[in-house]
Amino acid sequence: MPKQNFYQTLKAEVARIDEAQVAKRQENVIEGFTNDPSPKAIIAGKEYQIFNSNDYLGLRHHVTLKKAEHEGSEQYGAGPGAVRFISGSLKVHRDLEKALAKFHGREDAMVFSSAFAANLAVLFSLIKGQSKDSLLNNNTLVLSDELNHRSIIDGIRLAGLESEQKQIFPHLKPSEAAQVLESNKDKFDRVVIVTDGVFSMLGEFQDLKELRRVVDQYDSVYKEGVLLVVDDAHGVAGSGATGRGTEEVSGGKADVLIGTLGKGFGADGGYVVADQVVIDYLRESAATYIYSNSISGATAAAALASVNLVDSAEGQALLASAKENIAYFKEEMTKAGFAFAADSNHAIQPLLIGDATKTKALTKGLFDEGVLVTNINYPVVPKGRDEIRVQISATHTREDLVEFIGKITEVAKKVGVLA
Ligand SMILES: Cc1ncc(COP(=O)(O)O)c(C=O)c1O
Repeated sequence: MPKQNFYQTLKAEVARIDEAQVAKRQENVIEGFTNDPSPKAIIAGKEYQIFNSNDYLGLRHHVTLKKAEHEGSEQYGAGPGAVRFISGSLKVHRDLEKALAKFHGREDAMVFSSAFAANLAVLFSLIKGQSKDSLLNNNTLVLSDELNHRSIIDGIRLAGLESEQKQIFPHLKPSEAAQVLESNKDKFDRVVIVTDGVFSMLGEFQDLKELRRVVDQYDSVYKEGVLLVVDDAHGVAGSGATGRGTEEVSGGKADVLIGTLGKGFGADGGYVVADQVVIDYLRESAATYIYSNSISGATAAAALASVNLVDSAEGQALLASAKENIAYFKEEMTKAGFAFAADSNHAIQPLLIGDATKTKALTKGLFDEGVLVTNINYPVVPKGRDEIRVQISATHTREDLVEFIGKITEVAKKVGVLA
């Protein structure tokens, strides 16, 4: 009976979430994809244009990745068999890590099952010693952009710091981080500044150049310096002329860079690139690396093929096409009368609707017209900032964009978003 009482509480909590209209479990289940070069899913037998995927370069279906994945599974099997330090470290994992380190111009890299897992472990490990024997005390100040991703927030939470050790700086205002560093000068041994590269709700790039300047200015002020950690999950293999992401766009370099293989790179998994000493330390301390499987050899082979592809003339052409599509979309949507929640030059284009009911009606109306977009509502964004998040791909054709803009304009008029 007591367990039934617990289940009643769980049921009530799910009902509360439903009532607040923030439920996520009614997922669209994709049965397959069409053979079109542009992204189109099949759901319940019907075709849908995809405008809500992180597959920014369309590499998920690329023949080179699929071939590499197939060969990888032939060579290594379907799963890794064990965690890395037991018997799950495959040559293709190391090849991928070397390729990622080279791609980002760093000494070494480390592959995780996801970027979420990487963020959790990297932040925890850099903030706090792993055991009572650890030489790393927890006298760390952590400074975080106020809109950082959930995986960063949870990584910091895990470390269980005192509240004065966890501070935020206003969104996209790195110069205000300097004030926090100034006022905490004598209190902490080291500082970890952590930020998203691209903010996933608004498509904005962090100003890494300015943040790097602040970090360098205060590095010698703290006994163990200031470390800049950047999660560029939406930036890598999506932005910059060569796909190096926010570092390339904003001109500032992270000390520790986290990326995902599951968005622009079109495969799956997460990674960290950094100086050798940081990677050596993380291989000894990152719990989600030590105690959890890595990606399969097949996935690692697909990811490796993707890194090489992004770094080729074909990759650069895809990046240029993504940029062109984004500019065209912004211009035409502005002409059609839509407002944006932020001025984004990233594939994430946030349409400001400002009303939860209209946002949902617009998403539903587009779904009925065979188009997938995502509505983002309070509490993910502040009240009155409800948005439709559109994601543009390099492989959307001009016809796809024209068709989409026509459909959204029509539905927006029907639901009262446009006059
Ligand atoms: C900023 C950011 N970091 C990390 C992640 C997690 O990436 P992964 O799917 O590889 O865990 C996401 C995914 O949504 C993200 O938006």
